[in-house]
Amino acid sequence: MKERKRSQEIFKALQTVIPGGVNSPVRSFKDLLETPVVAREGRGALLIDADGNEWIDYVQSWGALIHGHAHPRIVRKAEEQLKRGSTFGMTTEIEEKLARKIIERVPSVEKIRFVSSGTEATMSALRLARGFTKRDLIVKFSGNYHGHADMLLVRAGSGLLGMNATSSSEGVPSETVSNTVCLPFNDLNALKLLFRQRGQEIAAVIIEPVAGNMGVVPATEAFMTSLREETSKAGALLIFDEVMTGFRLGLRGAQSIYDTIPDITCFAKIIGGGFPAAAFGGRREIMDILAPLGAVYQAGTLSGNPVAMASGLEAILMTEEKGFYEDLERKARILADPVARFIEEEGIDASMQRVGSMVTLFFGRRSVGSMEEALQTDQSLFKRFFLHMLERGILIPPSPFEAWFISAAHEESHLIATKEAIMEFVSSLKNLKAALA
Ligand SMILES: Cc1ncc(COP(=O)(O)O)c(C=O)c1O
Repeated sequence: MKERKRSQEIFKALQTVIPGGVNSPVRSFKDLLETPVVAREGRGALLIDADGNEWIDYVQSWGALIHGHAHPRIVRKAEEQLKRGSTFGMTTEIEEKLARKIIERVPSVEKIRFVSSGTEATMSALRLARGFTKRDLIVKFSGNYHGHADMLLVRAGSGLLGMNATSSSEGVPSETVSNTVCLPFNDLNALKLLFRQRGQEIAAVIIEPVAGNMGVVPATEAFMTSLREETSKAGALLIFDEVMTGFRLGLRGAQSIYDTIPDITCFAKIIGGGFPAAAFGGRREIMDILAPLGAVYQAGTLSGNPVAMASGLEAILMTEEKGFYEDLERKARILADPVARFIEEEGIDASMQRVGSMVTLFFGRRSVGSMEEALQTDQSLFKRFFLHMLERGILIPPSPFEAWFISAAHEESHLIATKEAIMEFVSSLKNLKAALA
């Protein structure tokens, strides 16, 4: 392991003033490293820690940085706005520009409201759906993460319908989650059964169309089609949580991949260009019941923050350059395709799952289609893999259940080095398999 003395000192000091020394739990690299990576700066695809160590970074602020760290065009836009003022708590022109751009790119969105985090976006979208339908029940899927609002912190119960929702966190009253049903992802029968039994109570179903929070697991076409049919028939709203996939999986996010059209879409990450911005948007008739027009209250001091809006708009405009998504796809393939081929040819118990520039390598299963299957993967092997990559100068997310993000700043040399480090590890599994045979 590289020298990380300064990181240790900083982390020790942090722990005395911040619980666990981190402001979001996953940053602790729990069970993997005693001292987490303490970031000092980022340059394109690279993350540099407090000791000056460099890593090829596939966390990229959990997908927010599709152009890599500190892209000069985005930095310039942020600086220009900062000089004019960082926040006013008043309406500004730049909000209209970003709103219009998102509406232009994602046809299911006719009106949009900006907030500051993905958590706020999904929480507000659900309040809106409940206000619009005058119903209380919400449905989510296990392994989908939508932020940390009380009502969304629910894992699947063991029963088919997941009726006995239990919270994943202490501090959440049981009444708060009593109106949340959690179903298995990609399970058509469970979905149909729930709608048959309780369809008329359901305000909304919220889904990560391509889940990134159990590792990369896309919803099947059939599941999506069924979801749209069942929600429409029951008068329930369909909410796409595109916090990760929005503006990442093509011009229209996950809505570029599936034919399904949601009623409401949630965005965050990329739309802030690396600053805190998020949004929820959808059909006009739904959006127009928000205050001040309607009776569904929603607000925020820093909502539509002009620095975030200016940076986000620039980030989105940059994705419109010719061949942007094709190039990202090509880069992701350099990394993932040879590994997927090798696993397949050698019959190794692993699965390289990729959608666009989102990638996860699972160990211990040939495919993963749900949280239940993700939990059957070999997590102890992941720890060895994570450390193997870190020692070779490559930083992947510190959990087997996360998406790795490839940015436009990743160069071919980074991707080839990463592929080789993965192949070295996967080949050792093949040799192990041969030795055991
Ligand atoms: C799909 C999805 N929804 C919602 C959130 C919550 O966003 P935030 O962390 O900005 O509150 C996340 C965070 O990673 C996410 O991946």
